[in-house]
Amino acid sequence: MSGLARRLMVFMTTVGFIGSGNIGGTVARLAVAAGYDVVLSNSRGPQTLKELVDELGPKASAGTSAEAAAAGDLVVVSIPLKAYRDIPVEPLAGKTVLDTNNYYTQRDGAFPELDAASTTSSELLQRHLTTSKVVKAFNNIYFEHLRALARPTGAADRSVLAIAGDDAGAKGETTAFLDRIGYDTVDAGSLADGWRLQPGTPSYGFLYSGGIENFWESPGVPVDAAALRAKLAAAQR
Ligand SMILES: NC(=O)c1ccc[n+]([C@@H]2O[C@H](COP(=O)([O-])OP(=O)(O)OC[C@H]3O[C@@H](n4cnc5c(N)ncnc54)[C@H](OP(=O)(O)O)[C@@H]3O)[C@@H](O)[C@H]2O)c1
Repeated sequence: MSGLARRLMVFMTTVGFIGSGNIGGTVARLAVAAGYDVVLSNSRGPQTLKELVDELGPKASAGTSAEAAAAGDLVVVSIPLKAYRDIPVEPLAGKTVLDTNNYYTQRDGAFPELDAASTTSSELLQRHLTTSKVVKAFNNIYFEHLRALARPTGAADRSVLAIAGDDAGAKGETTAFLDRIGYDTVDAGSLADGWRLQPGTPSYGFLYSGGIENFWESPGVPVDAAALRAKLAAAQR
């Protein structure tokens, strides 16, 4: 991590969440454990997030999507892809936005441009959030494994997560954030390269469970940078 990214982290205290389900809620738990304040949001309103806020304690609160977007120094978007146009643009201006979203036709409906592989889901989000800096992150790991595999900096069994983005500064912020919540980072390239870590590719899901056989039962298997890079390189469209 660069010295600049480390210095930026000193000023980054609040993480906003648009979507606070399996992945958003897990990242929020890791962020609170690492000392961040979090502002959660979902589609049904802040009152429906009381249980999670109570669990997370005084560093957590809930608001609307626009309030979570405005409050976050960094904002995690973790909703079904089909809802990406609902994400408020103005309060995210200038901010780094972490995009966990994946494309599943059975849930999201058809996106012809994704089916044709002419763009990626994170590029769609970037086109919507024209004034933000989108970084793809957390999208290739099952939320239970994400929670279980977090380790302090330097731990021998620390895992690595892939990120993809077009802005070097935003990727530096993301790397610093991941470092604080328990992960090393591999740079998988630009948003256009984001397909390399999407569903159906070798780096997706099963990499962190030790294979397909015991996916649901697996407590999570640590993944190092060499293993992740090899899987990213093996991805085919
Ligand atoms: N589950 C995983 O392990 C995993 C791993 C990697 C990536 N992903 C991807 O990450 C994204 C989130 O997955 P998830 O499993 O966390 O989903 P989830 O548990 O169903 O949570 C989705 C969250 O998004 C909120 N939401 C839905 N529509 C919204 C809208 N229009 N505006 C604001 N919030 C909205 C939901 O709020 P309500 O409940 O109020 O509707 C909920 O808090 C998906 O794209 C998924 O494919 C998931």
